[in-house]
Amino acid sequence: MASSEAISPAEVKSATKNALDQIAGASSMADLKKVRAAVSGDSSVLASLSARLGKLPADQKAEAGKLVGSARAQIAEAFEKRESALSLEEEKLQLAGEFLDVTALASPARLGARHPLSLLQEKISSVFVGMGWEIAEGPELESEWFNFDALNFDADHPARAMQDTFFVEPLDQKLVLRTHTSPVQVRSMLDRKPPIFVLCPGRVFRTDELDATHTPVFHQVEGLAIDKGLSMADLRGTLEHFARIMFGDEAKIRLRPSFFPFTEPSAELDVWHPGAKGGARWVEWGGCGMVNPNVLRASGIDPEVYSGFAFGMGIERTLMFRNEVTDMHDMVEGDIRFSKQFGMVL
Ligand code: DAH
Repeated sequence: MASSEAISPAEVKSATKNALDQIAGASSMADLKKVRAAVSGDSSVLASLSARLGKLPADQKAEAGKLVGSARAQIAEAFEKRESALSLEEEKLQLAGEFLDVTALASPARLGARHPLSLLQEKISSVFVGMGWEIAEGPELESEWFNFDALNFDADHPARAMQDTFFVEPLDQKLVLRTHTSPVQVRSMLDRKPPIFVLCPGRVFRTDELDATHTPVFHQVEGLAIDKGLSMADLRGTLEHFARIMFGDEAKIRLRPSFFPFTEPSAELDVWHPGAKGGARWVEWGGCGMVNPNVLRASGIDPEVYSGFAFGMGIERTLMFRNEVTDMHDMVEGDIRFSKQFGMVL
């Protein structure tokens, strides 16, 4: 029986070497725990050596006892050393994983940006609010009466075809997507009593394909002033003030005779843009004129008592030449990198 066999130094040496190798090979605390069970647990070689020790004849006991005892001591010491080395290593790893550099710069949160069209629209509005004007709004889905009839577009008048209209079905409802902000003039006059000074910014629609200079959905701003004795001189002065705030003190305006059904006389408005990239130049900016008496009458205002002026321009177009935006796609695509160039102020 193995248990009564003599214990040879070679046997103890090889068991010890095997145990020490396993201890050295343990790469984590968890590993070491498994090795401990295998090397010194109940079913280990070491345990069986101890068991055999008890059964040896007395004359062999002392010698074999020394061998096994020193093997146990060696193994226990190796465990202790390996344990402290591994626990130090694991602690270091844990600390490295939890390292927090409190002096590091925080990575900036990605904020959104205001769209330059909104910023410009607000800037324009604030110019007029500063002169005591009101901001007025109207519906984008508009009746043909407000969009055309009340503005003196005759039913068969070719002027109605000047604007490429989205007619909304069913057609007998006579609804359109408004082609301009001018219908807000009529709504403002019906809602108020003169004197009236309103600025009407808003979205308008025309059946244009999207390209570098056109978009089917765009923005306009409309101005309307109604009072006793207003003249072209008041219109001119107002627009010149507006132009200077938008384009700088050297800006000036020029009116060229034109035609709109809702104004008489009518004019095209050009602005001298001193900051233009290729050098100062005249740019077509919008339309304007004295409100046609037919429009005043349709809006419940007596043209014998009151007169008024009106003007309108595109906000996209203004942004294009004011801020050197050359492609309309940039304005409609909503890429935040485009908006960010303008910061929070225009
Ligand atoms: N509504 C015109 C358009 O969309 C622009 C315009 C011209 C507005 C003359 C006005 C004006 O108020 O007086 O083309």
